[in-house]
Amino acid sequence: MERVVSGIRPTGPLHLGNYFGAIKNFLLLQEREECFFFVADWHSLTTHPKPENLKKRTEQLLIEMLACGIDPEKATLYVQSDIREISELYLYFNMLAYKGELERVATFKEKIRKHANNVNAGLLTYPVLMSVDIIIHKATKVPVGKDQEQHLEMTRNFVNRFNHLYGPLFPEPEAYNFGNELVKIPGLDGSGKMGKSEGEKNAVFLGEDPSSIIKKVKRAVTDSGPERPGMPVSEPVQNLFDIMKQVSDPATLAFFKEEYAQARIRYGDLKKQLAEDIVKFTAPIREKIRELSANPASIREIREAGAARAGESARKTIEEVRALIGID
Ligand code: TRP
Repeated sequence: MERVVSGIRPTGPLHLGNYFGAIKNFLLLQEREECFFFVADWHSLTTHPKPENLKKRTEQLLIEMLACGIDPEKATLYVQSDIREISELYLYFNMLAYKGELERVATFKEKIRKHANNVNAGLLTYPVLMSVDIIIHKATKVPVGKDQEQHLEMTRNFVNRFNHLYGPLFPEPEAYNFGNELVKIPGLDGSGKMGKSEGEKNAVFLGEDPSSIIKKVKRAVTDSGPERPGMPVSEPVQNLFDIMKQVSDPATLAFFKEEYAQARIRYGDLKKQLAEDIVKFTAPIREKIRELSANPASIREIREAGAARAGESARKTIEEVRALIGID
């Protein structure tokens, strides 16, 4: 069995893109591997969130992960900051990471470009913290998207450096390969990825009210419609088909594609159907979010149990590390 680690930053409520991206993979993985899934609250500090927001979002994400079906009996589910050993290992690994290699990371260069006024050291060493998240449990596999592959490569570099300097302790983690099961959910704004732009209009959240979902989908970007049969499908319309593929039944999608091909599609009908199917698809998750939110004691219990299990694994690693590097 592989040991798997993955985290999600608590930057906002989960949307359909998160569900069909990370979460669905987590659900598959918890059935067949030894999994550690966590809320990456320390990672989100790079942008200085308001304390009360960070706290709320962290709890919210934990609830949403549970509502989606992450099962704390099958996977170890925890909050990153509950495991203080991670911060200690982060200190040690910062000594093994070079400024030059950190500056060459694509996600860092993008952050510099976008947030030139907040290029803090935490941002620079983000890949170190992420590496530590993974190796604290000696994980072998990490389910991540393309944008995170460079971070995994750096993790392997840091691990190699550690193993050479102090002795072979850590395995080299690799991306978990799902073959072609990976799905990208586009946004409702006509291009790109759901949740990519800051505006809330391009994403449908899992816990969102049906009336709000319907309103959002109604406003989704389309085009002026096919002028004659056989026209190619424009990106915004293809996006709606892509979402429909995940939430509707295949016959529904086939029907609207055919309507398009015959140039008699009515986008109003397409959106009405899509909204209805999204509402239906998210209903059990929405219900579960409500249920869990009403029971903070049970959430606290789950959080503590997860921290105990993750903590045990982390302590074992950190003790081995201390012994190897001469800090006992
Ligand atoms: N960097 C990841 C992201 O932005 C989140 C993350 C933090 C993570 N630590 C991790 C993912 C460890 C996998 C393993 O999506």
